[in-house]
Amino acid sequence: SDSTEIRKGLVGVVADTTAVSKVNVETNSLLYRGYPVQELAAMCSFEEVVNLLWRGDLATPDELARSIARERSHRELGDRLMGVIERLPDESHPMDVVRTAVSVMGGEDPTAWSDDPEEIRDKALILIAKIPAVVAYIQRHRRGLPMIAPRDDLGYAANFLWMTFGEEPPEVVRKAFDVSMTLYAEHSFNASTFTARVVTSTLSDYYSAIVAAIGALKGPLHGGANEAVMRTFDEIGSADNVVPWLDDALAHKRKIMGFGHRVYKRGDSRVPTMKAALDTLIAHYDRPDIAALYDALEAEFVGRKGIYPNLDYPSGPAYHLMGFDTELFTPIFVASRIAGWTAHIQEQLAHNALIRPLSLYDGPAERHIDGYTADA
Ligand code: CMC
Repeated sequence: SDSTEIRKGLVGVVADTTAVSKVNVETNSLLYRGYPVQELAAMCSFEEVVNLLWRGDLATPDELARSIARERSHRELGDRLMGVIERLPDESHPMDVVRTAVSVMGGEDPTAWSDDPEEIRDKALILIAKIPAVVAYIQRHRRGLPMIAPRDDLGYAANFLWMTFGEEPPEVVRKAFDVSMTLYAEHSFNASTFTARVVTSTLSDYYSAIVAAIGALKGPLHGGANEAVMRTFDEIGSADNVVPWLDDALAHKRKIMGFGHRVYKRGDSRVPTMKAALDTLIAHYDRPDIAALYDALEAEFVGRKGIYPNLDYPSGPAYHLMGFDTELFTPIFVASRIAGWTAHIQEQLAHNALIRPLSLYDGPAERHIDGYTADA
């Protein structure tokens, strides 16, 4: 093979095998451990999906009950962690707060270096339990509201919304949130997952891999897109402004957030499921204006460019309707994607090879500093 062939952005490069998920562009499908994600979204809770991704099979009722009980017992944030979060500036981006929180949890864990799969799963479950509290705290703090204690009689999605808004969510809202968590949970070698695998490949610790992955997810070309979609909606304002707004955006060569995908070129397999969930929220909150803007921008952009929406396009307005501030959308993505990152970290450790590609040098030719002699 030609060692100087460059695949910029690693486009089309198959970097390793994985048994966690399969993206099939031809059939427009996504399988987690063999199960179509639409089926999991309809039939399973996020807790069940997490267990599936980590164990490789759906958990037995006993295994699931144990995992749920453990998650529910870890939903509270410790004093030291709260102290660090409170000391960050109020203006800190919520993604920076979440990234810092995970870093603190790593610093507090005396067995952070463990590479035992059971122990890693347990650390991950504790992260899954605590990130909702971090997100809820940030959201409430921004609104000058006190923190709310977790409820161990509520499932993951209901408790997440309870801690954030102080109300038990109506079933339609709980279900839409749960579906979004399932859809965000895993997506093969995306940038943040690959980042986690690179860090793990050096035999660094679990938390370091997650912190690095959060950094990768923050960018608007990746997870930051759900936040960016909402800013676009705010900028456009209403459906009748779509055409002039798009004319201007494309004239300025702007990327339209929530559209396009490195792997899917004919539509993202997760979008129909999330769009259906968004539709239930639009009906529940009676917001036909959002439906009109959503449809108008999609029709206009797809019509002009043939570039289709990705998952962030329906999930952005869905989180907005639920009442989250826009800056909280990507931290919610973190809460979910920890599931996929953890499955890949375990897989990387089980078959590790240091990830270290090559580069083709194109800087100055060899040169020397005046007066230097080798024997000086
Ligand atoms: N708006 C405008 N033009 C676009 C867009 C877009 N959203 N997406 C792709 N294009 C154009 C791009 O400019 C390029 O045009 P040209 O060939 O004239 O230079 C062509 O389509 C091919 O795109 P690319 O950027 O080479 O393709 P890529 O595989 O590198 O990009 C992407 C994938 C996701 C980075 C890109 O589609 C994008 O920037 N989208 C907007 C951000 C976004 O929604 N990201 C979320 C990704 S999916 C879920 C997630 O990770 O959260």
